[in-house]
Amino acid sequence: MKNIVILISGRGSNMEAIVRACRDEAWPARIAAVVSNRPDAAGLQFAADHGIATAVVDHRQHASREAFDAELARVIDGLAPDVVVLAGFMRILTPGFVQHYAGRLLNVHPSLLPAFPGLHTHQRAIEAGCKVAGATVHHVTPELDHGPIVIQAAVPVLPGDTPQQLAERVLALEHQIYPRAVRWAVEGTLRLHGGVVTQTEGEPQLVMAPQA
Ligand code: GAR
Repeated sequence: MKNIVILISGRGSNMEAIVRACRDEAWPARIAAVVSNRPDAAGLQFAADHGIATAVVDHRQHASREAFDAELARVIDGLAPDVVVLAGFMRILTPGFVQHYAGRLLNVHPSLLPAFPGLHTHQRAIEAGCKVAGATVHHVTPELDHGPIVIQAAVPVLPGDTPQQLAERVLALEHQIYPRAVRWAVEGTLRLHGGVVTQTEGEPQLVMAPQA
């Protein structure tokens, strides 16, 4: 049984999708805990309602990024994690933290990386006149929203799209690709060669929205 630790900062809809997939698909894994840097993160309630342990490491209670990351790592390591999942965890992590979890730390970002790391991705994609947008699950490196790509999903940008409309369409696909990527990590079916990730069973690492 592998241990999955999920880090959230807010709503936690990706966390919910992973919790449901782990249960419904009977992964050889358990969600060891959901950890938030915000005590008021809405997703904590969902986790508690589903009998999952929760923890809060409040970044505002720590004087530096290093001190926060050290406490976060202490809590996570106490859960013996095999896979650490950033699911809307909106903190920049120190290189030491990232290095400590190298190879077992995943993130989802709502753009087709390496385009549009950081915030306001949908607005920036619309303003750039992009015809396609999407989401990326990747291994985490010290650089923000950067690292070897595990799976991507593409959606069309429709004429007149608002950032919110586009975000909703992308989020629906995040909920498809993130559980798939976490399952691969649990199964040990991801290989990294020269910065490129392949899935050893040949499962598709690209999802296209029906309209795309
Ligand atoms: C998701 O859209 C995720 O891709 C994004 O935050 C949202 C969290 O939603 N993450 C990032 O922007 C990371 N740079 P959720 O809390 O409902 O899963």
